[in-house]
Amino acid sequence: FEVSWDASAAEKGGWNSFMAKEISEGPEAVENTMRGRLADSHVELDLGALDDEALRSIDRIVIVACGTANYSGLVGKYAIETWARVPVEVDLAHEFRYRDPVLDERTLVISISQSGETMDTKMAVQHAKAQGARTLSICNTQGATIPRESEAVLYTHAGPEVAVASTKAFLAQVIGQLLFGLHLARVRGTMADEAIAEVVAEMRELPAELRQVLAEQEAVHELAHWMADSRSVLFLGRHVGYPVALEGALKLKEISYIHAEGFAGGELKHGPIALIEPGQVVFVVVPSPRNEPLLHSKIVSNIQEIRARGARVIVVAEAGDAAVLPYADVVLRVPLTLPMLEPVLQVVPLHIFALELATAKGLDVDQPRNLAKSVTVE
Ligand code: G6P
Repeated sequence: FEVSWDASAAEKGGWNSFMAKEISEGPEAVENTMRGRLADSHVELDLGALDDEALRSIDRIVIVACGTANYSGLVGKYAIETWARVPVEVDLAHEFRYRDPVLDERTLVISISQSGETMDTKMAVQHAKAQGARTLSICNTQGATIPRESEAVLYTHAGPEVAVASTKAFLAQVIGQLLFGLHLARVRGTMADEAIAEVVAEMRELPAELRQVLAEQEAVHELAHWMADSRSVLFLGRHVGYPVALEGALKLKEISYIHAEGFAGGELKHGPIALIEPGQVVFVVVPSPRNEPLLHSKIVSNIQEIRARGARVIVVAEAGDAAVLPYADVVLRVPLTLPMLEPVLQVVPLHIFALELATAKGLDVDQPRNLAKSVTVE
């Protein structure tokens, strides 16, 4: 009997890759990011210099980030605008830096970065400060450069992320922005106490719901094997499902080297539908019909349009959504939550799909070619 000691397997906690381990840590990433910040029925954040008075004085928010962090910002935009009624735009940090953005002391620039070291994001923050804007960093790495350069910081507590492709940090970034949105809504008086309490209660359910999603991914595994030879995969979503579609496509490009694009459902007719030919696989991120009947019916029409042209449709849909069944080749289920919280659950099957597909192709999922975990040069 021999005991073999594999240091790298031990580091991965028994998982085959850091990415697999980190996906499995999503529930804790969410739990730890909420810990101590959810009061009974509202959100209480200590943002130092960005006190209540400062938060009441801002009239605009610009979110700057790159890659996956940027897509989390697109989710944040929907939540913050809806809840706190402040206009929010989301920019790629490098585009923001090299145009001439309109900024003043009433603008809050929120940077989002897992590493806190991304050069483009850091330069965007420095530019914002130089123009007199207020700055908040949402960051996963204690004491990193970007939070040090910012006036205030809201740390996500996803724990260290090693795999190049970001997974649990994305969940924590969305949670960080939901917390900020609820805090801002309370401070600015834009949301009824009961409405805030309802979101807080639903947020508390997310870790258990995520565990459920993680436990039910057999279908994704089979799908990935079936699709290992695909040349192109498309992703469609609307509202907060749109950034989920973008993130699903990015993950697939990053680690499985398959051409993938994410589109907003409403854009379909303006170009992407030309790509649909028989057999083209399209993932569709579907909002719950119980939450969003109108959006749901719109995305079902999108599905009908692509099916009529021969697409094979894989939907990510809420557990009780029977209406979507006649239109889907494969259904990946997630539990019911509130609309703004849906991305936290919907993105997980897409992360797992990318992981499984890259694994089926025999690729190194943790170290994809040409990519770095943290891009500290321009
Ligand atoms: C690189 C990584 C991505 C990440 C992006 C932003 O491209 O490969 O996974 O989303 O940088 O990184 P940050 O650390 O700023 O979140």
